[in-house]
Amino acid sequence: MKVLVVGNGGREHALAWKLLQSDKIEGVVCVPGNGGTASMEGCENVKLAVDDFHGIKEVALNHEIAFVVIGPEVPLAIGLADYLKQQNIRVFGPTQTGAQLESSKSWAKGFMKDIGIPTAQWGVFTEDEKTAAFEFVDRYGAPIVVKADGLAAGKGVTVAATVEEAKAAIVAAFGGQFGMAGECVVVEEFLHGQEASVLAITDGETIRPLLPAQDHKAIGEGDTGPNTGGMGVYAPAPVVTDEMMARVETEVLQRAIAGLKERGIDYCGILYAGLMISPEGEVNVLEFNCRFGDPETQAILPLLETPLDELMLACMEKRLADFPPLRWKSGASACVVMASGGYPGSYENGKTIAGLDRATEAGAIVFHAGTELKAGELVTAGGRVLGVSAIADNFDNAFAKAYHAVDCIDFEGAYYRRDIGHRVRTM
Ligand SMILES: Nc1ncnc2c1ncn2[C@@H]1O[C@H](COP(=O)(O)OP(=O)(O)O)[C@@H](O)[C@H]1O
Ligand SMILES: [Mg+2]
Repeated sequence: MKVLVVGNGGREHALAWKLLQSDKIEGVVCVPGNGGTASMEGCENVKLAVDDFHGIKEVALNHEIAFVVIGPEVPLAIGLADYLKQQNIRVFGPTQTGAQLESSKSWAKGFMKDIGIPTAQWGVFTEDEKTAAFEFVDRYGAPIVVKADGLAAGKGVTVAATVEEAKAAIVAAFGGQFGMAGECVVVEEFLHGQEASVLAITDGETIRPLLPAQDHKAIGEGDTGPNTGGMGVYAPAPVVTDEMMARVETEVLQRAIAGLKERGIDYCGILYAGLMISPEGEVNVLEFNCRFGDPETQAILPLLETPLDELMLACMEKRLADFPPLRWKSGASACVVMASGGYPGSYENGKTIAGLDRATEAGAIVFHAGTELKAGELVTAGGRVLGVSAIADNFDNAFAKAYHAVDCIDFEGAYYRRDIGHRVRTM
C-alpha cells in the first residue's frame, strides 16, 4: 500500500522514513515534502500547498493511497481531515473540532478546566476586556505568560519578566501582531520547572503513550536567547518517571480523550501534551498539540519497533484497544538540529549542503527539514535545515554519534547548539 504524508518538515521526513520501513508500505508520497523525502528511495514529492484540499484529494486518488497522514497543525486546524474524510479517504489526524485543542488556547483551557486536567491558573480576555486583562496582570504580578489565542507558528506566547512587558504583549496581540491569532488573549500564571512532551496515539477511545521526550527550544547554548521551533531533543526523557507517566496517562491523556468523546469529537491521531514538571514532581499541562511534535518525532520514531502503518491503521479502524503493546528499542535517542545562520531571525537559503553520506556512515539518521533538491543538488531552504538523529545504548553514546555526524555535515552559516542533552549527558 501507499501512504500520503502532508507537510515539509523534519517530522514529515521522519514519518515517511518510518512508514517505509514496514514490509506493507510500497511507497510514500509527500505533499510537498523536502529535499530529504525527494531523495529517499520509495518516496516522491508532489509540490502542492498544504491548504490545497482539492489538489491533495486528487493526489490521494491518483496514487491509490491507502491513507493520508497530516503532519502540521495548520491543515488540521483548517479542516483538511474533515474534507478528505468526506471524500471517503482515510486520514490519520483529527478533524477541525478536535484540532481546536491546539488551534485555540482559550478553548483548550476551558476544556482542561471542565474535565479537571491540571493546568496553570488563567484568564481569557477579548479586546473590550483589556482593562480586566491588565488587572489580571497586576494581580498575579510578573513573571506572567501572555498567549495569543490561535495558531501563531510558535510565536504567539510571551513569557513576560515584568508587568509592563506583559501589558505590551496584550496590546500587541490585540493589534493583530500574530495574524490569525489574537482575537482574544489568554493570560496565565507562570509555572516553574522542566518542560517535557508526552505524545500519545489514539483512536478516540483508547490511548497509547509514546516515549516521553524533552526538547531545547532556545536558540542559544545554556537554553538562552529567543525560542525556536526546537534546536534538539532526546527520548526517553528521564525527567518523566514511570510513576509520572502513569499519572499523565490517567489524569491527562485518558481524561482528555473521554472529554473529547463526551463533546461528540471523534479524535483519531496524535494527542500531544506539553507538560511543565515542577521541582516537586507536580505535573501541569501547558498546552495540547494535535499532531506529532517537530523535532520530537525525529527522536522518538527511531526507537519505535512497532510498524507505524499498523499502528495508524489500528487507530483509523478503532482497534487500538486490541493492538499489542508498542515495542521499543532499548537505549536512548538523540537529535541535534542544524539551522541556517541567523535563524530564528532572518537567514539566507540556497546554501549547498555537503557531507550527508559521511554523516550516515557515522551511524546517524539525517532527517531533512528546510532542504530542497535544486537541479540535483541539495541546498538549504529554511531556518531549521536538518535534524541529525542517533540511537545508542545510552545518552552519552547517542549524543556522541549524533555530534560526530553533525561534524561531517557542512553548509555555509550552519549553526547548531553543542549542549543539546546537557541534562542527560555526563560528557
Ligand atoms: N504557564 C507557563 N509558565 C511558564 N512558561 C510557560 C507557560 N506557558 C508557556 N510557557 C513557555 O512558553 C512556551 C510556549 O508556550 P506554549 O503554550 O507551548 O505555546 P506554543 O507552543 O503554541 O507557542 C512553552 O514551551 C514554555 O516554555
Ligand atoms: Mg508549545
